[in-house]
Amino acid sequence: MSQSESTANEIVQPVNELISNRLKGRVAIVTGAGHGIGRAYATRLAAEGASVVIAELDKAAGESVASELVEKGRSAIAVATNVTDPASLKNMASSAIDTFGRIDILVNNAAIFSTIPMSRSPFDEIEIQEWDAMMAVNVKGAWLASRAVAPQMKTQLSGKIINISSGTALKGSASRIHYVTSKAAILGFTRTLARELGQYGINVNCVAPGNTLSEVNPDESTLSFRNAGANDRALKRTEQPSDLVGAVAFFASSDSDFITGQTLVVDGGSFMH
Ligand SMILES: NC(=O)c1ccc[n+]([C@@H]2O[C@H](COP(=O)([O-])OP(=O)(O)OC[C@H]3O[C@@H](n4cnc5c(N)ncnc54)[C@H](O)[C@@H]3O)[C@@H](O)[C@H]2O)c1
Repeated sequence: MSQSESTANEIVQPVNELISNRLKGRVAIVTGAGHGIGRAYATRLAAEGASVVIAELDKAAGESVASELVEKGRSAIAVATNVTDPASLKNMASSAIDTFGRIDILVNNAAIFSTIPMSRSPFDEIEIQEWDAMMAVNVKGAWLASRAVAPQMKTQLSGKIINISSGTALKGSASRIHYVTSKAAILGFTRTLARELGQYGINVNCVAPGNTLSEVNPDESTLSFRNAGANDRALKRTEQPSDLVGAVAFFASSDSDFITGQTLVVDGGSFMH
C-alpha cells in the first residue's frame, strides 16, 4: 500500500486537549449528521462545547450519533428530520429551542451523495426524477433549513450558517452533473444569504470538501476512487472527514465573526484559485 492510500476510516477526529471550549454555550444543528462527514462535524462541534442537534433523515443513525456523544459527556439530541419538508424543519428548529433555548449554528450538510447513493451517468442519461430529488435535498433543503432557523437567529442578532458545497462545483466532474450542479448552486446561495442576513449579525459561509473517504465500510471501488483523489492534490494522501472539521468549527466560532459570504476549499490543494 502506498503512502497516499488509506484503508482505515478515521471518520471522527479523536478529541484531544488542544481543542478549545470556544463553542461553550452555543447550540448547533447539523443536518445529515447521522452518517459520514456530518457525524464528524457534529462530534467536533460538541467537543468544542456546543450542544448539538443531529437532524437526520435516518432516525436510527441520528439517535446512535446523539447517544455516542452523550456517552462521551457531550450535550446532544437527535431530531428525525427531512430537509425537503418545511414542517419537519419547523419541528427541528423548535426542538432545538425547546431543549437548548437558542440556535447559534446551522450546518447545511444533508445531501444525496453516498448514504443515499446517486447514479453516475452521462448528463443525458440521468433520470429526471433523480435530478429533481437531488435539487430538492441538496439545494432546496439548505434553503428551507436556513429559513427555519433564521427567525431565531434574527431575534438573537447573531448566528452562523455553514453550507457544504464541494470541490466538484469548482472543477467540474464528469458523470454526475446533477450533483455538481446542486453543489454549484450552494456557492451562489451562500453569497446571497450572506448579503441578506448580515444586517442581523448572521454570518453565512461555505466549506467545499474534496473527494473524502466518508464511508465507514467502503467497498473496493469506492475505496480506490477515494484513494485516487490523492494523485490530484498537492498534499498526496486520502482526504478524511477529520480534515474538514476544523474549517466548520472555525466558521461556527467567533474567530470568523467578520468573515461572510466566503467559500473555503478544504481538499489538500486540488483546486487552487
Ligand atoms: N465525501 C465526499 O467526497 C464529499 C466531497 C464533497 C462534498 N461532500 C458533501 O459533504 C456532505 C456530507 O457528505 P458524506 O460523504 O458524509 O455523504 P453522506 O451521504 O454519507 O451524508 C449525507 C447525510 O445526509 C442525510 N440525508 C440525506 N437526505 C436527507 C434528507 N432529506 N433530510 C435529512 N438528512 C438527509 C443522509 O442520511 C446522510 O446521513 C454532503 O453535503 C456532500 O455533498 C462530500
